[in-house]
Amino acid sequence: MSELGIPGASQRRGPTVMDVARDREDVVVGDEIVRHKLSSRIIHWTVALFFVGALLTGMPIWSPVFGWMAYLFGGLSVCRWLHAWLGVAFSAATVVMFFFWLSDMRFDENDKKFSFIDYLKFSAAEDPNVGKYNAGQKLFFWSILFAMLLVLLTGIPLWWPKSFSWRLRQVCIVLHDVGFIYWFVAIVGHIYLGTAAEPGTFRSMTRGTVTRAWARLHHPKWFRDVTGGRG
Ligand code: HEM
Repeated sequence: MSELGIPGASQRRGPTVMDVARDREDVVVGDEIVRHKLSSRIIHWTVALFFVGALLTGMPIWSPVFGWMAYLFGGLSVCRWLHAWLGVAFSAATVVMFFFWLSDMRFDENDKKFSFIDYLKFSAAEDPNVGKYNAGQKLFFWSILFAMLLVLLTGIPLWWPKSFSWRLRQVCIVLHDVGFIYWFVAIVGHIYLGTAAEPGTFRSMTRGTVTRAWARLHHPKWFRDVTGGRG
C-alpha cells in the first residue's frame, strides 16, 4: 500500500494514472486510486466473455424455447461442441481469476456483521471497516468458484454420455441446471451492482481507477489503507 500522491500526475510529466494502472494497484495517483491493474481487468473480462459464450451456446441446448439461438452459431450440434469447450475455457479462466484475487477475498471478523438483506435493500449505513471488498463481493467470488466446480464436474457425464450411467446423467442434468440458474441470477445482480446501482464502480474494471470519494464511501478501510489515513 503506497501513495504516489503526485497532484496533476495525470496531466503532466511523469507517469500518468493509466501508466501506473498497467501494473500496479492500491495506489493513489492524483485524484484517482488504482483499484484493478491491467492484468486483473483482462482476466475479469476474459471470464465474462467465456461466461457469455457458454451461456449463449448452452441456452438452445437447455430448452427448445431458446432453440432459435442455435442458428446464431451454425446449429445445435455446433452449440453442443462449442458449449463444452467454452465451459472449459470459462473454468480455466475462473481458476486464474481465483489466484489473482484470493488474497483480497479472505473473510475477516468484520464480515460477520454482513446482512445480505440489508445489502440488497441498500438500507444499512456504509460500514467504516469495509476493506477492498465487502462481504457480499467475497461471497459472490466464492460462490462463482463453487458453482464453476459444480457445473464443470456435472458437465463431464453430459459431454461423454456413453461412458456414464443413465441415472448419474439425470442427476448431473439437474445439478448442472441448478448451477446455471444460480449463476444467471447472481450475474444479473452483479452487473446491476457494478453499473447502475453504484455509479463509479464500472470504471474500476475499464480504466482501472476509482475516485477518492467513491473509495471513501464504499470501501472506507481500503481508502484509509491506500492513502495512509491522509485522505
Ligand atoms: C457485463 C458483465 C459484467 C460487468 C459489467 C462486471 C462488472 C464488474 C465490476 C465493475 C467489478 C469491480 C467491482 C469493484 O471493484 O468493487 C467486478 C468484479 C468482479 N466480477 Fe464482474 N462484471 C461482469 C461480469 C462478470 C462475470 C460473468 C463474472 C463471473 C462469472 C464476474 C465476476 C466478478 C468477480 C468475482 C468480481 C470481484 C468481486 C466483486 O467485485 O463482486 N463478473 N465486475
